[in-house]
Amino acid sequence: MFPWPLVGRSSLLLASLLLAAGHFPRTGVAAAPPALPLSASEYSVVTLGDSSSGVNVDVFLDLVCIDTKKAWPVIKQVIQTYDRAVQWRFHQFPLPYHTNAFIVAKGAVVAATYGNDTAALSYMDIAFARQIQVSNELTQGMTYKAVEGVVAAWVQEATGLESEVVRRKLQEGGVEEAVRFSFKYATIRSIFGTPMFVINQMLVPGLDGGSDVMDWEEYLAPLLTQMARES
Ligand SMILES: *[C@@H]1O[C@H](CO)[C@@H](O)[C@H](O)[C@H]1NC(C)=O
Repeated sequence: MFPWPLVGRSSLLLASLLLAAGHFPRTGVAAAPPALPLSASEYSVVTLGDSSSGVNVDVFLDLVCIDTKKAWPVIKQVIQTYDRAVQWRFHQFPLPYHTNAFIVAKGAVVAATYGNDTAALSYMDIAFARQIQVSNELTQGMTYKAVEGVVAAWVQEATGLESEVVRRKLQEGGVEEAVRFSFKYATIRSIFGTPMFVINQMLVPGLDGGSDVMDWEEYLAPLLTQMARES
């Protein structure tokens, strides 16, 4: 939090000593505190279903992750099965070892913010289908700008926005911030990989990229039965 990001430990120590000794006047020009999100919904890129559903599922995903890609059609099928009885919140957790995960995640935010939820879900469909195009291996010789161009084309296809508009949105601070918050939120929830699933605030280690619809039903069906009994 101190405005000395680039100094080594020893100079930091020296600076602290000088500061403690009153050598540096306090100017009052502290680094601005980071902006905080307005509401919890800002942590998710897309939310489906009502918050009044008694069952909510938080999906932590990385669009460049092969296991998330495997889980995606299963998740979509489970969403259809339970319709609005379950609330789904999709959180992006771009993994650092997927070089392009962050910019691809920004694409989803642009599609959701400047398009709508349907457009964001189409963007995710496109990203999973063409995941290989942004893989570490295939983008080794590409510039960041070139990868951004690939992402922009996907957003354009999903939203119908103009290419130049998409490019500009991808560089907006607010879009970057949304992905940062999403990442931070996931780490606070002890998320360390993708896909990971939290049902009614509890991490469910039994569900992962290899789970099928039957596995999901094992968790969701009893909860919904119990809810129906109690209501
Ligand atoms: C969402 O965005 C898509 C793509 O731009 C558009 O075709 C669709 O009509 C929009 N849906 C709603 C509910 O606004």
